[in-house]
Amino acid sequence: MTMPETAAEQATHERPPAPLRTETFREARPTIIGPDTPEPPFPILLSGPVQKGFGRGGKDLGCPTANLPDESLPPMSTVTQTGVYYGWARVSPHNAEGKKVLSDVDSVVLPMVMSLGYNPFYHNQQLTAEIHIMHDFGSDFYGHAMDAIVLGYIRPELDYTSREGLIEDIETDKRVALKSLARPDYESYKNDPHFML
Ligand SMILES: Cc1cc2nc3c(=O)[nH]c(=O)nc-3n(C[C@H](O)[C@H](O)[C@H](O)COP(=O)(O)O)c2cc1C
Repeated sequence: MTMPETAAEQATHERPPAPLRTETFREARPTIIGPDTPEPPFPILLSGPVQKGFGRGGKDLGCPTANLPDESLPPMSTVTQTGVYYGWARVSPHNAEGKKVLSDVDSVVLPMVMSLGYNPFYHNQQLTAEIHIMHDFGSDFYGHAMDAIVLGYIRPELDYTSREGLIEDIETDKRVALKSLARPDYESYKNDPHFML
């Protein structure tokens, strides 16, 4: 059996085009994903200051994302494939200058979906890790420290013929993540020491 290339290996090779999303894929999507207990390579712990992406996530897709800098990606790129992942994330209430900007309800551990890849729909050339936290934040939090625990893989990244198709899949990703995280052995990671630092 050949192992899938890791994201780091993919970054150094010519990348094959991402598969186009099909109706069959949409209809066959499970509502809960992964084993009942996270298995290696999960959990994967990530940390870094939140960076601005191209800004299309919020405006174009109704799905704002907090990007992690390249320096934060090695734990991900050495072990896994590009695609959509799920887990938990927490944003520090303090900005880069140490001022408290976010309220306490915004800085608890929250469910997230993460896109790791090249966003074929937007033809990005660089690998990015974009985390969408499923919560309505009171304000922006660029520059804030963010910690995340990745617990599972949802699907490969796909190319789309329409923005609506991508939006529909992201909505499904969120539902799948919430259901998958509600299992006790996933829920318990909300209290992981990674979030107490
Ligand atoms: C859960 C999730 C799944 C995504 N899946 C895909 C995908 O399959 N294909 C793709 O091209 N982009 C995908 N994206 C990435 C969006 O294209 C990306 O968030 C968008 O380009 C906004 O980036 P920006 O804020 O840097 O502009 C996904 C994003 C999220 C949050």
